Order: sequence, then structure tokens, then C-alpha cells
Amino acid sequence: MTIDLHIDAIAVGGEGVARDPSGRVVFVEGALPGEQVRVQIRSEHKSFARGSVDEVLEAAADRVEPVCPHIGHGCGGCGFAHVSLPAQRRLKVDMVTEALERIGRLDAPLVDPGPQLPASGFRTTVRAAVTEGRAGYRAAHGHDRIAVDTCRVAHPLVEEMLLAGRFGRADEVTLRAGAATGERLALVAPKVGEVELPDDVLVVGADQLAAGKRAWIHEVIHDVRLRVSAESFFQSRPDGAAALVDVVAAALEGADPLAPLVDLYCGVGLFAATVGRGRPVVAVERSRSSVADAKVNLADADARVVRSAVERWRPSQAGVVVADPPRNGLARDGVAKVGATGAQRLALVSCDAGSLGRDARLLTEAGWRHEGSTLVDLFTDSPHVEVVTRFSR
Ligand SMILES: C[S@@+](CC[C@H](N)C(=O)[O-])C[C@H]1O[C@@H](n2cnc3c(N)ncnc32)[C@H](O)[C@@H]1O
Repeated sequence: MTIDLHIDAIAVGGEGVARDPSGRVVFVEGALPGEQVRVQIRSEHKSFARGSVDEVLEAAADRVEPVCPHIGHGCGGCGFAHVSLPAQRRLKVDMVTEALERIGRLDAPLVDPGPQLPASGFRTTVRAAVTEGRAGYRAAHGHDRIAVDTCRVAHPLVEEMLLAGRFGRADEVTLRAGAATGERLALVAPKVGEVELPDDVLVVGADQLAAGKRAWIHEVIHDVRLRVSAESFFQSRPDGAAALVDVVAAALEGADPLAPLVDLYCGVGLFAATVGRGRPVVAVERSRSSVADAKVNLADADARVVRSAVERWRPSQAGVVVADPPRNGLARDGVAKVGATGAQRLALVSCDAGSLGRDARLLTEAGWRHEGSTLVDLFTDSPHVEVVTRFSR
């Protein structure tokens, strides 16, 4: 079913927001505020519906022709490729402001667009689906996989693996490179078959990792060399990781520079190893692979790495906390653990505007004050946001 709608605003998740003639809210993927669009309705719920743009009837000035040819073939990799770069930054500020005001119940929150990062060749980790031996991306709609012969967002070291690689009968491949070290790795699932890749690439199967094999690359962020294993989380771009470190450091400014730091959801120890330098650090992480990396990366620091889910961790006392949870955010348990550290300053790193709004509300109710949010645009050409928020109490 299609329906013609006018888009009034941008939703927290990046879709356009419209109302149908009955007044019901419709979230429209691929639509921009101010546009008149024909919408393909994809799902209907009691109080809202979801759809995607079938045809743009009146385009917004912010709409551009995507540079990447694969968008026209249905590639779902870059959901904001049709939006000009300045408008992407503006819309992301709007999404975060809306989340903080409506879900977080904050009045006129400060939201800064943050540093501008290069718009191409940045991704050093890419997860791709494999069809007939070739890597490609999932389609924006349906179950198709789109083979690509160029990828604008992939770092050249990763793009070469993506385009030239042949992966036999694998289902999925994760391609990762260290931009500073040139090291490359391919994690092939479920197992390695007839794989063809440049000779320098370390190839490992998901089955081999499950059986205990280890494989890693190294990346360098602000002169700190970090080991990153095949299964460990790492930020998708190293210039973005460096920018995040700078913004987190700025969020901690004014707090006692020698006070102990707790790094929650620490991954391989990115923040503990950089902003934590010179302080006693406790770093908490659930993943076995990331904990093993963090122990190596923090071996020379005054740091203790604790393998635990944050919800089950027994809090240590701290002056400052950095918390970088996955999409679902801190939630009630995480907020309680942050509070129990006794810290007066928190740098919260959020990768979902909705959960940031919810966390902001929980933190405010627990006595924290929102002092400003800064975007770090790790995900150029995508509606995903990354936000560092400073809270004090
Ligand atoms: C967004 S990543 C951040 C990692 C790190 N701060 C960085 O910037 O590289 C979130 C991390 O939290 C870990 N994680 C997810 N749920 C967790 C939980 N409940 N308790 C502890 N760690 C968790 C994941 O394994 C992942 O390493």
C-alpha cells in the first residue's frame, strides 16, 4: 500500500515523521523534513506505522544524489547517503536534541555537532554477507545481498579485501585493518573454505576461534598501540576513536586529574589507555576476547581489568567514570552502578539517541546534571549517532 505524506520532522532513529489523514504517526525511512513523498507502508501498529520512500514528490534542498552507485541498486549500507553532509550533521543534532527533550525531559539541552571527520575511506571494520563466494552488503529491504565493486566508506585496506576477496561457501565475513600498522584480518563464518585474499591478510574461521585459536591486529590511537582481537569490539574508524578520546577527555576537564577513573564497558581499553593515563583505573568488560586485549593494552598502566557484566560488578570508588555501553545504554542497573562509584563526573558515550534520552532521564532522577552533549560523527552517510555527554553531580 502507498500513501502520499508530508514529512514534518526527523525522528530519534533518523526516519522522517509524518501524520496520515487519520492523525496516526508514520515513520518514513529515507525521507527528509519538508519533503512530500509517496510512502510504501511496510508495517502497521496500533498507534503508528512504518514505511519507506517509494517516490520523492517534492525534494528537500538537503537531498543529494548519492555518490555511491550501489545505493540505487538497493544497498542498505549507508542510510543517509541521500543527505548532504552539512544536513546530516544538522539532522543528527536535531535527533539528539529531540531525544534529550522528549525522552530525557531536559529543557533546552546543549548539543554540539562536534568535530567534522573525513566523509570517505574511513571504516576499518566491515561486516559483509557472502553470496557465491563474494562479499556484499545486505539490501535496505528484503533479504537480497548486494555485491559491490566499490565502497566509499571502507578504508582502502579493507576495501581491497572486500572487492578482491573470495570466500568460498562462507555466509559472512568480518574484515578488519589497523590503519596505522597496515595489519589485516578476515574472520570467516562459519568456517574457512576456499578463501582467496592478499597474502598479508590473517584469515581465521569462527569455528577456530570457538575452539580457542586467537587472532588479532594492532591499531594506534594517539600514540597508544592497542591489540584488537578478531572478536573484540573496536570503534569502526580510528580517526573517530581518536576524536572520541578527545571529546571524552574534554568532558572530564575540571575534575581532579589524579582521581581514580572507572571505565565501564571498556572493550580493549581505549579510554582507560588514553584518558586514564596518569590515574588509577578500574576497567570493566564482559567479553572474554576484549578483556584479554585490555589486559595486554593496559599492562604498563596502573589499571585493573575486571571481567564482569556491569550489572553484576561490585562498584569501586572513583572520582570520574567513563561509560560506553552498547545500543541499549546504561539503563537502570548501569545508572545505579555509576552512582555507587561515588564519582562526581561522568562521560557517557552513547550510540543510540533513544537510549541516551532514557539514560539522561534516569541520571537526572538520580541527582546528575546534564552539562552538554557532543556528537562525534563516526557514521558518515548513516543515520547512526555517537554522542558524548557530560554529567556532573
Ligand atoms: C560500544 S562498545 C565500547 C568499547 C570501548 N569503550 C571502546 O570504545 O572501544 C561496548 C562494549 O561493552 C561490552 N558489553 C556489552 N554489554 C556489557 C555488559 N552488560 N557489561 C559489560 N560489558 C558489556 C561489549 O563487549 C563492548 O566491548
